[in-house]
Amino acid sequence: MQIIIINGPNLNLLGQRETAIYGKQSFEHYLPQLRGRFPEVQLDYFQSNSEGALIDRIQAVGFAYDGIVLNAGAYSHTSIAIADAVAAIHSPVVEVHLSNIHAREKFRHHCYLSPYCVGSIVGLGLEGYALAIRYLQDARHQPVAD
Ligand code: DQA
Repeated sequence: MQIIIINGPNLNLLGQRETAIYGKQSFEHYLPQLRGRFPEVQLDYFQSNSEGALIDRIQAVGFAYDGIVLNAGAYSHTSIAIADAVAAIHSPVVEVHLSNIHAREKFRHHCYLSPYCVGSIVGLGLEGYALAIRYLQDARHQPVAD
């Protein structure tokens, strides 16, 4: 089974960036651990700070992969174009945010892409990615709606 994690802007700075909010671990350090926990999943990873590059990748994988774990960073709160890309594809998308966006500034409370995702995991730190992958693995056998 093929799943991709797509991280948006500034998530390349995990481990250095606002560590009180996002933690001290870089994604590059976390990814091998995650792959070790899901040996039966082909787990791809893509990060970009550019909206267009994120859309290109969502489109490229979104008709073939078994699932996408998407943390679009700040674009979650601003980008109708990324929301449209998520709506357009067939692969199920689980939205992840490391921080509890609902406990932060008001502008982080709304995410344009959430209605097009199968679900959202917020505030559980890096573990949110593992929970999303676990859901996508199980979801193959248990569709949310017919
Ligand atoms: C984030 C939350 C966003 O509001 C923020 O802009 C990010 C990271 C998170 O993972 O908590 O860049 O998506």
